[in-house]
Amino acid sequence: MAYLSPLMTIMTKAAQKAGRGLARDFGEVENLQVSKKGTSDFVSAADLRAEQTLHAELKKARPDFGFLMEETEKEEVVDGIHRWIIDPLDGTTNFLHGIPHFAISIALEKAGELVAGLVYNPITDEMYYAEKGMGAYLNDRRLRVSARTRLEESIFATGIPFKGKGGHEPFLKQLSAVMDHSAGVRRFGSAALDLAYVAAGRYEGYWESGILPWDIAAGIVIAKEAGGFITDFAGKADMLTRGEVLAATPDLSRPLADLLRAASA
Ligand code: IPD
Repeated sequence: MAYLSPLMTIMTKAAQKAGRGLARDFGEVENLQVSKKGTSDFVSAADLRAEQTLHAELKKARPDFGFLMEETEKEEVVDGIHRWIIDPLDGTTNFLHGIPHFAISIALEKAGELVAGLVYNPITDEMYYAEKGMGAYLNDRRLRVSARTRLEESIFATGIPFKGKGGHEPFLKQLSAVMDHSAGVRRFGSAALDLAYVAAGRYEGYWESGILPWDIAAGIVIAKEAGGFITDFAGKADMLTRGEVLAATPDLSRPLADLLRAASA
């Protein structure tokens, strides 16, 4: 691991502890796949356990910080300045199906600004992290977004709305537009890791709407610190309030935004 600030040390320790529990539970899910009883309750319990571990560890280290967490949903305000934004298990559907692509996502907001982010996949032991102004890392390695500049050489990730989630028609138009102009589109199933992969230069961009703050807050800091441009679909910085995110390399942010805008027109 590269140099870790006191804040990042707290965040990584909490993620590793919760990650050990998730990895153990994931082993169990893999065994349960063949059982007809289903695994949903088990996965919800695993999700909640991870959230409780993160809450306990972070609270112990920084008693004054508030929380916004996926499972408990209700906001816990303490000093009114700092707030942890947490998804203990981003990629729940993957986890449920025994697919080892999911992550713990922890962001820190200070006076309304995202200042630190960590995304940890406990199965691959990949820890992505960044603090504002200090660069982004994957374990020991400094991250930079991809240097590709041409849409036709680029691949993009997205999230596909499913049953019960609106926006199917507009999404199909966006998908068609990006398919027509790029080297391919991927759907891996974890928004936090999608943003981390943009930071790592694995794909050139990622877009999704109907997304919640805890899915994207940490990844936004990491992708930004790796040199990415992160906006909502209108090119503004209201990703968390609008529930939409477009992350890309500086050269490809505008072309991707134009494609999405044209598809929605
Ligand atoms: C989901 C994942 C997925 C995205 C969905 C999210 P969850 O989060 O990030 O990639 O497409 O919109 O809800 O439910 O697994 O925490």
